[in-house]
Amino acid sequence: MHKIAVLPGDGIGVEIVPEAVKVLNKIGEIYGYEFEYTEGLIGGAAIDATGKPLPEETLSLCKSSDAILLGAVGGPKWDSLPVAMRPEVGALLPLRKELKLYANVRPCVLFDALADASTLKREVIEGVDILTIRELTGGIYFGGKSREKTETGETATDMMTYTTEEVERIARLAFQVARTRKGRVTSVDKANVLESSRLWRETVIRLHETEYSDVALEHLYVDNAAMQLILRPSSLDVVVTTNMFGDILTDQASVLTGSIGMLPSASLGGEVALYEPAHGSAPDIAGQGKANPLATILSAAMMLKYSFEYEEAAKKIEDAVEEYLNRGYRTPDIMQEGMQLVDTQTAGDLICEIIGG
Ligand code: IPM
Ligand code: MN
Repeated sequence: MHKIAVLPGDGIGVEIVPEAVKVLNKIGEIYGYEFEYTEGLIGGAAIDATGKPLPEETLSLCKSSDAILLGAVGGPKWDSLPVAMRPEVGALLPLRKELKLYANVRPCVLFDALADASTLKREVIEGVDILTIRELTGGIYFGGKSREKTETGETATDMMTYTTEEVERIARLAFQVARTRKGRVTSVDKANVLESSRLWRETVIRLHETEYSDVALEHLYVDNAAMQLILRPSSLDVVVTTNMFGDILTDQASVLTGSIGMLPSASLGGEVALYEPAHGSAPDIAGQGKANPLATILSAAMMLKYSFEYEEAAKKIEDAVEEYLNRGYRTPDIMQEGMQLVDTQTAGDLICEIIGG
């Protein structure tokens, strides 16, 4: 019996998470796995119900579960609250920190059927299979912040700090994962300007020389990385980078796959791992059945692989997603001429149907 904490959150989170649960149930049926789900409140939904973005109850539910499935948090309704109360800063970031989830793994894989769905040319994106490993509990997201009045206005500060240990553990993961893939790591920093990036690069180089010299390593400054990502994306294998650079580059990378609605993620490093789509709560399309559940469904597949070591079942989901796309089903974000438009629930049903054979 696997205990899964289910945190739908806000916006499209409440639409896409049930589709991923549906898929997990289907997998359970086929393979005889038992999943026990407990729902928890997070983000704006939690603020509305309890006055807190991350209630104690939710945190203890997460800590006592075997894995966490999260939708998304945030929305205009809560944007004007004091910053510590907002869903992003008050719930998602402390959840990651509390659970020590320092590694955010974001696979960016182009399904062949979507080679013409991107704004980028087919010949540029064909064969794209990038695994970004984003540092998730350090850097500028978690450094000291301050705000002071001055004579002429205000001064606002966000500190970007990294320690040797923080860089080592994330780089180690990148090298190890690269060994199971094409054996290439691209480390992204801004070492020409930032001190924290110089420590980042020195640490990655030292680790590479002493323990991982069998892996091919390149370093890119983040501005150049943003360019290479759309210039030669299929030459990238594992990309390892800081919290903020990883946040930005993975949204950009999602365009290679056709839509950010395709990008799953796993946050690892603590005792329990968290699985969530890389996209947000999309308040503009929430409640209309327009959301693409594939990122969340693929996140559930990552859960099967990383938390429960059910490789075959995970592959079954990935194959079903591929087949669904091959059959021409599309949510609005990846809709193309001649394809069949489906809503969020129908997409989940179709994936289950394909899994069931
Ligand atoms: C993400 C999101 C979050 C982040 C926001 C919602 C705080 O953009 O998971 O990429 O910046 O980490
Ligand atoms: Mn982001």
